[in-house]
Amino acid sequence: MRLKDQVAIVTGAGSGGIGRAVCERFAEEGAWVAAFDISEDGARTTADRIAAQGGRAIGLAVDVRDEAAVKGAVEEVAQAFGGVDIMVHCAGVMHNVSTEEESVEGWDRILDTNLKGAFLISKHVLPHMRRRGRGAIVHIGSVTGIMGYTHLAAYCASKGGLHALTRAMAIEYAPLGIRVNAVAPGTVDTPILAGFLAGTQDPQKARASFERIHPLGRIATPRDIANVALFLASDESAFVTGHVLVADGGFTVHGVQPRE
Ligand SMILES: NC(=O)c1ccc[n+]([C@@H]2O[C@H](COP(=O)([O-])OP(=O)(O)OC[C@H]3O[C@@H](n4cnc5c(N)ncnc54)[C@H](O)[C@@H]3O)[C@@H](O)[C@H]2O)c1
Repeated sequence: MRLKDQVAIVTGAGSGGIGRAVCERFAEEGAWVAAFDISEDGARTTADRIAAQGGRAIGLAVDVRDEAAVKGAVEEVAQAFGGVDIMVHCAGVMHNVSTEEESVEGWDRILDTNLKGAFLISKHVLPHMRRRGRGAIVHIGSVTGIMGYTHLAAYCASKGGLHALTRAMAIEYAPLGIRVNAVAPGTVDTPILAGFLAGTQDPQKARASFERIHPLGRIATPRDIANVALFLASDESAFVTGHVLVADGGFTVHGVQPRE
């Protein structure tokens, strides 16, 4: 019960991906969970699954790009649950396109969801955390914010920006007892990955190559990443702030091996 009676808002919580896993993992640890997603059905399903296990949760339709919607939903949660202690920004979108073929609309969609959304939800939970004199914010970044990838310029830029936002907010809010960290996952088995694989010529082969590039020899489960978010949201990481915790099965530390 590491999060007993703490109120956690999780964005991007309506698919079978990382956001829902975070909600369910936090609820197992006693948190009261607010699942936000652009899909109302998805957010409600997440909340219903938690309620079915005896947990306390609500699911709300929220587009993280829309400040009025974000503000309204955060207020609704604070009223219903009496405050906000934890926020995890999981909402994210990606698509594959070369930089010269990227449209302004495509660029904006990615930057607005992944990065501006993180700013907007943070902006509106911070006053509640300030009131509590404590809080934990966890942004779901990515190894693509650390390394370069072809045909992912907007996505890489959004995640690199998210890591920088994490560090800046951590410094600004440390004096108020609010910690801000990020998780940078490697490849995770979620709908976003399924969409990516479906766009390749041979999805099975592409999946196998994703498994191979992680030294641990597999793709992460959403629960692997939820466990890292749990650590960063809980008091077990009380002296950790401004950190981007890489959870990638060894991918980013894997140098080129000499050929035998
Ligand atoms: N799956 C991976 O390999 C991987 C790796 C590194 C980082 N990530 C990051 O993890 C996060 C979660 O991704 P996932 O893999 O679970 O993918 P996912 O597609 O399953 O989940 C993303 C969720 O965000 C929601 N969403 C999209 N736009 C939104 C908006 N404007 N407002 C509110 N919700 C919105 C979607 O409806 C969906 O439920 C994303 O930020 C993603 O970039 C994923």
